[in-house]
Amino acid sequence: MALYSEKVMEHFRNPRNVGVIEDANGIGEVGNAKCGDIMKMYLKIEDDIIQDVKFETFGCGSAIASSSMATELIKGKPVAEAEKLTNQAVAEALDGLPAYKMHCSVLAEEAIHAALEDWRSRGKTE
Ligand code: FES
Repeated sequence: MALYSEKVMEHFRNPRNVGVIEDANGIGEVGNAKCGDIMKMYLKIEDDIIQDVKFETFGCGSAIASSSMATELIKGKPVAEAEKLTNQAVAEALDGLPAYKMHCSVLAEEAIHAALEDWRSRGKTE
């Protein structure tokens, strides 16, 4: 069996929503101390809907694929739904990750939650 699913490889080679949102109103940056990988999520939220989401990931292929999939899963969705996104859901949507790579999907969950927290701390005024 191949180590990585086709979906992981596809999102790694062709990541969706890469980049920066200049007028983002929620930004979250997280890192994994062990591997040193860093992920930054930008959210543009209007009327409690994730209108746009982009990411920058300095990290392994699984982290890039996880960020890409995570952005796809929350784009256009209500904030309440994005809040419930788990790393398991990201990994499942990628048709699985090797056990020792699951922490890469945790980074995506954490980055989105950090960005949502940032948005909330701004008082939803923007
Ligand atoms: Fe660090 Fe994948 S090895 S996020």
